[in-house]
Amino acid sequence: MTADSTRPAPEAPAGQAPPPGREGEPILRLRGIGKNFGAVQALAGVDLDVPAGQVTALVGDNGAGKSTLIKTIAGIWEPDTGQIFWKGQPVRISSPKEATDLGIATVYQDLALCDNLDIVQNMYLGHEVRRGWLLDEAGMETGARRTLADLRVTTVRSIRQPVGSLSGGQRQAVAVAKAVRLQAGLVIMDEPTAALGVSQTALVLDLIRQLARRGVAVIVISHNLSDVFAVADRLAVLRLGRIVAAGPASEFDTQTAVDFITSGTSSRAAQAPAGGGTSGPEG
Ligand SMILES: Nc1ncnc2c1ncn2[C@@H]1O[C@H](COP(=O)(O)OP(=O)(O)O)[C@@H](O)[C@H]1O
Ligand SMILES: [Mg+2]
Repeated sequence: MTADSTRPAPEAPAGQAPPPGREGEPILRLRGIGKNFGAVQALAGVDLDVPAGQVTALVGDNGAGKSTLIKTIAGIWEPDTGQIFWKGQPVRISSPKEATDLGIATVYQDLALCDNLDIVQNMYLGHEVRRGWLLDEAGMETGARRTLADLRVTTVRSIRQPVGSLSGGQRQAVAVAKAVRLQAGLVIMDEPTAALGVSQTALVLDLIRQLARRGVAVIVISHNLSDVFAVADRLAVLRLGRIVAAGPASEFDTQTAVDFITSGTSSRAAQAPAGGGTSGPEG
């Protein structure tokens, strides 16, 4: 881990398409995931494919199981049943560190960063670049600046300002930039735009699209369906711990999404996307 260099690892420049064959391939597959808390069945038989280079929105009412599902991916809970496949291989993700080591980054709105440290320090925390005995401050500054510029984050005044002084959207930009620097293959964001104003929301939605454009798989949990439709390539609807619909966002509209969220079915759904072709129960 100390073999980090001052250059950002080879990444597709912003706006450039990922290498052929990568986009659309599921980097993460869930099969039959179940999780109980005592008598509460939080998740049951969850099948989900999460493709690289696409934004998958996970939607559902309060208590549907969204946070529990991403916590099983992020290594906070181990599922009681089912199998997680990462890049085609069956894996057990027993701790957040194991998730991070695989390349799974979770961006929580407030938890991920240290307020008293500046942007550069946060971005390199635990992965500091050294020159001999000394920290390579100049190199890390350059790397941090370049990563933010690649993500088109232009609203940060100084990369030496403490993260505690940043707006909610800027904080997420730093967390996302850190995930990019660590070459995360999957970035999970739980309610990234909750509590953000209009321009900050636009910043975060743009960041999410930038990530997908760079070939990263993104899972976004959101209550805000207009954000979901603005940013998602795919939708997966959880209800009472089960996936009731999954497929391309173009197969849904606000009304069908609301139907699935509230009742688990929609009479208006043209192609009844339960399973969505790639996340059916088989497999
Ligand atoms: N740590 C926990 N202990 C007990 N029950 C939990 C715990 N976490 C979640 N649950 C229960 O699991 C269900 C799904 O919760 P959650 O995943 O938080 O839903 P969502 O994020 O979609 O609102 C709910 O019934 C919730 O009360
Ligand atoms: Mg939740």
